Amino acid sequence: MDLSVLAETAAHPSPPADDPEWWRSAVIYQIYPRSFADGNGDGVGDLAGVRQHLGYLRDLGVDAIWFTPWYDSPLADGGYDVADYRRINPAFGDLAEAEALIREALELGIRTIIDIVPNHVSDRHPWFQAALAAGPGSPERERFWFRPGRGERGDELPTGWVSNFSGDTWTRTVNADGTPGEWYLHLFSQQQPDLNWNHPDVRREHEDILRFWFDRGVAGVRIDSAALLIKDPALPEVPAAPGPGEHPNQDRDELHEIYRNWRELADSYDGTRVLVGEIWLPDIDRFAKYLRPDELHTAFNFDFLARAWDAGELRASIDQTLAAHAPVGAPSTWVLSNHDVTRPVTRYGRADSSFAFAAKRSGTPTDLDLGRRRSRAAALLTAALPGSLYLYQGDELGLPEVEDLPADRIEDPMHFRSGGVDPGRDGCRVPLPWRGTASPFGFSPDSAAGEPWLPQPAAWAALTVQAQQSDPASMLWLYTQALRIRRAEPGLGDGPLSWAEAPEGVLAFARGGAFLNVTNLSAEPVALPAHAAILLSSSPLDGGMLPPDSTAWLRTQH
Ligand code: NOJ
Repeated sequence: MDLSVLAETAAHPSPPADDPEWWRSAVIYQIYPRSFADGNGDGVGDLAGVRQHLGYLRDLGVDAIWFTPWYDSPLADGGYDVADYRRINPAFGDLAEAEALIREALELGIRTIIDIVPNHVSDRHPWFQAALAAGPGSPERERFWFRPGRGERGDELPTGWVSNFSGDTWTRTVNADGTPGEWYLHLFSQQQPDLNWNHPDVRREHEDILRFWFDRGVAGVRIDSAALLIKDPALPEVPAAPGPGEHPNQDRDELHEIYRNWRELADSYDGTRVLVGEIWLPDIDRFAKYLRPDELHTAFNFDFLARAWDAGELRASIDQTLAAHAPVGAPSTWVLSNHDVTRPVTRYGRADSSFAFAAKRSGTPTDLDLGRRRSRAAALLTAALPGSLYLYQGDELGLPEVEDLPADRIEDPMHFRSGGVDPGRDGCRVPLPWRGTASPFGFSPDSAAGEPWLPQPAAWAALTVQAQQSDPASMLWLYTQALRIRRAEPGLGDGPLSWAEAPEGVLAFARGGAFLNVTNLSAEPVALPAHAAILLSSSPLDGGMLPPDSTAWLRTQH
């Protein structure tokens, strides 16, 4: 299909209809718009900046980009507090620019996925403002979870549910006459009131928002907090050990009906518009239920990301993930990081390289060389696994977590709500270094008036795109080669995997008839199995042996 013709002839183009199964093997690059590139020089990334760098993404070899929320928002939670789902944040651009971006990306063969935030809105959203103004008992309040407090004076929280950002999940309102009023529910910050998904307006509005963006050519949506939308209306306390479907605000059975409706809506468009769930659930079989053929297409597999750099752990995660996806026929996703978690170069450089929110996130001794070596190995390992692959901006440059941000620059509510115990997520959201030897490293134009909204470490001079593009030993070079091979190699992407025999601490598996991935997580170099050629290696071989913390891709037949 000639995409340039498509772009010229359609005001709101459809994604290319050539491959309805594109999402099963896609490489999806996550853009955090505030930190990708600043086109207008105010120190904040924007859509103009993204448009300037679409060629970079094409050359990197990605199939799609996923934008974290780009909507109008007071940014109380980095944009996951949406004030208007049909308006672009003026700091990022406007709707016409978003439409141009979707079109230009398509001309380069890159689809656009956007973030949909259905669990909550911003406290500045007109619905919430109307609910506050209308007062207790009003229909406007029915779209949210307003409740009187417990206790004689109503000053006790309606439930003891704990926020996903730590702290309480209820905030008390003030009545028009100044007296203390009802409380409203927010599973995240108090600027993010939860919507009541039993209300028909809420369902209708979100289906309308999906149509609004599908009509503008987006190829899919990433659904924020996808397992949280439904609450038990009786608002019981969370049981000590909730059984399947028993948690009052997570993974409730009624969610599936919502996603079946969304799937029908998505399927009514051409070109396969995908639904991707952000679902953190410990029960992988419950997780897979969201991926039945008439529900979501895929969901983020966070289990792999949370595991330590250990052969047994990673093998168990791969096996469990593939086994859980097989019965529903959905491809797995592979995710090393995103805008919520510690950058892999830092995480894998720690003695305990597993990930958990609010734990082990700062002040932990880190060997960045080790972390970088393991991240390179992990990049090839995940790119060789069956299914789609997510790549968070900056991981292709091997950026480490920035752990010494000045206290007065931190914005993440996770930091503040934990009383400062959790350093928050700003350290993985620092603006990208593109070129040059000093901040802003080409993130903003040279003439820029504003500083980058978060300060960039001076040491990033060695990690700019420009520095890495000409260095075959760089992370960027490795990713570019890996994605090129992945696209050309018939066995990679979606499809079967078969484990091969390997020494203790080594993960070896075949994809297709002539491709083998070998990842050495042991402490010793290992001999490579018989091969016709080495396609790519994350570290230089050591006398023909694969060093520890390395992955090699082998051609096994002539
Ligand atoms: C998950 C998003 O990835 C995260 O950044 C956000 O804070 C929460 N959902 C709440 O929307």
